[in-house]
Amino acid sequence: MTEAQPRVPRKKIFVKTYGCQMNVYDSARMVDVMAPEGYTEAATPEDADIVVLNTCHIRERAAEKVYSELGRLRALKKQKAEKGESLLIGVAGCVAQAEGEEMRRRAPMVDLIVGPQTYHRLPEYVARLANGGPAIVETEFPADDKFESLPAPERKKTLARGATAFLTIQEGCDKFCTFCVVPYTRGSEFSRPLSRIVEEASALVDAGVREITLLGQNVNAWHGEDAQGRPATLGRLIRALAEIDGLARLRYTTSHPRDMDDELILAHAEVPALMPYLHLPVQSGSDRILAAMNRRHTAADYLRLIERIRTAQPDIALSSDFIVGFPGETEADFEATLALIAAVGYAQAYSFKYSARPGTPAASAENQLPEEVKSERLQRLQALLGEQQLAFNASCVGRTMSVLLDRRGRGEQQLVGRSPYLQSVHIEDAPAALFGKLVDVTIEDGYRNSLRGRLHENEAVTA
Ligand code: SAH
Ligand code: SF4
Ligand code: F3S
Repeated sequence: MTEAQPRVPRKKIFVKTYGCQMNVYDSARMVDVMAPEGYTEAATPEDADIVVLNTCHIRERAAEKVYSELGRLRALKKQKAEKGESLLIGVAGCVAQAEGEEMRRRAPMVDLIVGPQTYHRLPEYVARLANGGPAIVETEFPADDKFESLPAPERKKTLARGATAFLTIQEGCDKFCTFCVVPYTRGSEFSRPLSRIVEEASALVDAGVREITLLGQNVNAWHGEDAQGRPATLGRLIRALAEIDGLARLRYTTSHPRDMDDELILAHAEVPALMPYLHLPVQSGSDRILAAMNRRHTAADYLRLIERIRTAQPDIALSSDFIVGFPGETEADFEATLALIAAVGYAQAYSFKYSARPGTPAASAENQLPEEVKSERLQRLQALLGEQQLAFNASCVGRTMSVLLDRRGRGEQQLVGRSPYLQSVHIEDAPAALFGKLVDVTIEDGYRNSLRGRLHENEAVTA
């Protein structure tokens, strides 16, 4: 029978991810949670019965992208309807959480609006919609534990996703920086229990994963209990995970400077699996602006912290986030940020123009800066960060380092991987059999955004 059956899903889901790595993790879990319902992942929206946009609300531009994509999906839904096919459109993530009902008004073709804390109920929502139920808007923070409802990672699917994986260990934020929507979209801080994290990590490693990045909006605020019931922080969790046989690399992101405790710093010195890379956002180098941002640390506090980290582990690549043009930022404030960057020396960094977000305290400040000032400062900041990044990459030339080959390059014989310091490393003449493997690579070139190297001679023999 070839007759189309609208409202009965033919079992393909496409999830498009915006925003941070936590959304990448959530998108993968949405696919996992639909698998027992018979859904597989579609390669394109055209090929799918359900399309979910997993959205980000962090800056205005990020949120606007969602609405232009919804415009395209509306056209696709119409095309499909003309062929007698159905398309269920869902919006998940932080825009869904922040806008809820308002999004229904702006984009009435959306069938399902679901916040980051309720996507584990996707099968139930899809069944309701398939039975002809009305559009669903779900933006509560429910009491049941989302993570407990998600299926364990499966070998087949995980292998398809590669040798690296994300694992969310902490969600939400209680810090309330005055520019930021995250405490409103993700809710208050929550840490998953240590034993559950170790279980999920072990399942990933059994499925072929070699590198795990632990995720949280404030990942180093993670706290729990160790196997003996003693209070544990992230350093202890990292030690427990490092004991998993076959797990070669551990990373974590994103950290807050206020939650960097001694145990975590010591783990950087003592746990070989913990990669020598730390993303530690400072946002600004001006104490006046840091106070207005409610960051609750000064530039000097941050510099002292960096010194402690480097004393424990001198071989570490540092990264940060910066916001330029926060309300009231003067040229002198901005120069303090440049001075902090010069003092630290970053291996890489992310930088953004301040974007006023509805409902956050800084959005209603009167001293908003003109767009041109923000653009000009961002350019100067990025020029300095770019120089530092190039200098760091150039300093790798001549060194031999381990690279996890997790992507295919442009050329047939090219594989791309990550160095311990998180740079992309391109390798030519790499046998395809090395895909997913950890190899020693001698770095020959350091560019601004990547490295190029060749397999160390021992690898050619043992590969
Ligand atoms: N929890 C992390 C970061 C979360 S958001 C932390 O505390 O550092 C990621 C980055 O987006 C932030 O570090 C900040 O640099 C940027 N960001 C957040 N809100 C922003 C806004 N309103 N305008 C511009 N950049 C913003
Ligand atoms: Fe946002 Fe600040 Fe929380 Fe980071 S610490 S998520 S910037 S409120
Ligand atoms: Fe964006 Fe939400 Fe992540 S606002 S950065 S997707 S926590």
